[in-house]
Amino acid sequence: MRIVLVGPPGAGKGTQAAYLAENLSIPHISTGDLFRANISQGTELGQKAQEYMRSGQLVPDEVTIGMAKDRMEQPDAEVGFLLDGFPRNLAQAEALDAILKDAGLKLDAVLDLEVPEDEVVKRIAGRRMCRNDSSHIFHVEYTPSKVEGVCDLCGGELYQREDDSEETVRKRLAVYHSETEPIIDYYRAQSLVTTISALGQVSEVTTRAMAALGSGE
Ligand code: AP5
Ligand code: MG
Repeated sequence: MRIVLVGPPGAGKGTQAAYLAENLSIPHISTGDLFRANISQGTELGQKAQEYMRSGQLVPDEVTIGMAKDRMEQPDAEVGFLLDGFPRNLAQAEALDAILKDAGLKLDAVLDLEVPEDEVVKRIAGRRMCRNDSSHIFHVEYTPSKVEGVCDLCGGELYQREDDSEETVRKRLAVYHSETEPIIDYYRAQSLVTTISALGQVSEVTTRAMAALGSGE
């Protein structure tokens, strides 16, 4: 399956993607995680992305689209993929359509995670990420690690993302409304979108998402 996961910052895209990708046996491709890996490795691409991410703006399309295309062309993505955080504006959505069309492929579904803005702010304020594995995501109140600052799954160090300050979150939300939300209508016109509530326990949201994808447990 080829799936796009869309939703505001803090909706739970990364959290859900870890479970959905495992259940569906497809790779989870997060452009945010790819940028963060490039930043921590000090690559040229990471240097180009860093300032934009720090201030909550989108990284320019000419950097982002090429990086996403390279990742989608890796052998493990032949069986399909779950895109998280890409596309994020209409130009990226059109570029993705063109990439898939050239390869004789198409998207199967767009899953839209809906969550109220005050919940988004709470989720992001308490988020802790693992330095070893970006799919290990915790929350100090909702899903705390057993030992503070230590990942339950691998013992890695938990940290707070640089762009998770309240000011940057507000900027990211504004960018989401102005640039990313229009892609939902773009995909609605292709009858690909299912909107689900991302409120409730993580496992409840996963069950809802699997049902929406026609793969209910
Ligand atoms: P990116 O990394 O994609 O960030 P984002 O879209 O802002 O989304 P987040 O990762 O913040 O939230 P999430 O929905 O994954 O939530 P999570 O599962 O962690 O992008 C970062 C930046 O990179 C962008 O601002 C931009 O600069 C750049 N970028 C990336 N892609 C780009 C693109 N295509 N084009 C241009 N620039 C791009 O959950 C959040 C918290 O909530 C966690 O603590 C979690 O434990 C908790 N939680 C999750 N689910 C639940 C639940 N059901 N109940 C309670 N708590 C929950
Ligand atoms: Mg994420």
